[in-house]
Amino acid sequence: MTYARIIGTGSFVPNEPVSNAMLVERLAKQGIETSDEWIRERTGITQRYWANPDQTTSSLAEVAAKNALEMAGVHAEELDLIIVGTSTGDMMFPSSACLLQSRIGAKKAAAFDVQAACTGFIYALTTANAMIRSGQIKTALVVGAEVISRLLDWSDRTTCVLFGDGAGAVVLQASDEPGVLSCKVHADGDLSTILYSNGVIKNGQIVGHPFITMDGQAVFKNAVKALGDVAIEVLEDARMDVADLDWFIPHQANIRIMQAAAKRLNVPDEKVIVSVNLHGNTSAASVPLALDKAVRDGRIQKGQTLLLQGVGGGFTWGASLLKF
Ligand code: ACO
Repeated sequence: MTYARIIGTGSFVPNEPVSNAMLVERLAKQGIETSDEWIRERTGITQRYWANPDQTTSSLAEVAAKNALEMAGVHAEELDLIIVGTSTGDMMFPSSACLLQSRIGAKKAAAFDVQAACTGFIYALTTANAMIRSGQIKTALVVGAEVISRLLDWSDRTTCVLFGDGAGAVVLQASDEPGVLSCKVHADGDLSTILYSNGVIKNGQIVGHPFITMDGQAVFKNAVKALGDVAIEVLEDARMDVADLDWFIPHQANIRIMQAAAKRLNVPDEKVIVSVNLHGNTSAASVPLALDKAVRDGRIQKGQTLLLQGVGGGFTWGASLLKF
């Protein structure tokens, strides 16, 4: 049996962190009131990173990808496939994956983006896993990368305090050893109105509202349910139990969503990997960023069982259960 195994992880965040205090000061200049206390208590976020105007999704992804390739001991020319999960691609087309392919010199890799909002990385991992298991390809680079700060409405304090920029990547390779055990992805387009950015180009002009618009409470409620349901689905598919999990790595949107999902599943807090405090919500980058951090600080060890989960606009959600 052929599995797809993660053999390297990498991540990157741009510039110096922007603390809540710095954000409070910036918003105050625009007459918008918020506080470190409100942000921390409601979301768990203490800081985030924002890209410079000259940085792009593919430029952040490049550093994360190179770190993952180095850990994997794989040369870029060996890659058969690059998938980038993003909602903030460098341009309409070509895809950020094609631009990344050029940046790292992955000459023989096919390359495309997937757009599933904050679930983008899980959708990308699910696709790459299926292509490896089917024997179509051997080695894939799977990335979640965003410059989501470009979609923030600085006059909307309910959203602009939540998000940050960054990139995370994994190298996935065919192996006889167990790797990805189960992946499930879902969507409910009937919930498209609870979280969206609907700016589009018509006749050379942007029409609609290009900034993130969110019904926070509806997102909260649906996210907790979706994360709980899809966790059970992948565990049942792999004939495993919550007790078999070493680490739970949910989408890093908000500490309260993560804690509520963990509680619903009976996962103890100490098994939940948290990086939302440091990065804010980096959308499709959040899960691979958290994963890489915990791999590099030694918490995640080879052979352990991980549950990765995404949830976001669409509404989309999904999970990947794997042996690291
Ligand atoms: N600073 C200070 N006060 C604020 C801020 C802010 N940044 N934002 C909102 N408030 C105020 C509101 O105006 C409101 O004031 P009012 O009572 O006088 O009207 C009060 O705080 C409470 O607002 P709520 O929206 O009810 O606050 P809630 O407890 O629901 O928290 C939050 C808001 C954090 C957005 C919450 O709904 C949430 O976590 N939702 C999940 C959404 C999420 O995490 N989205 C991320 C993207 S989606 C994804 O990645 C899955």
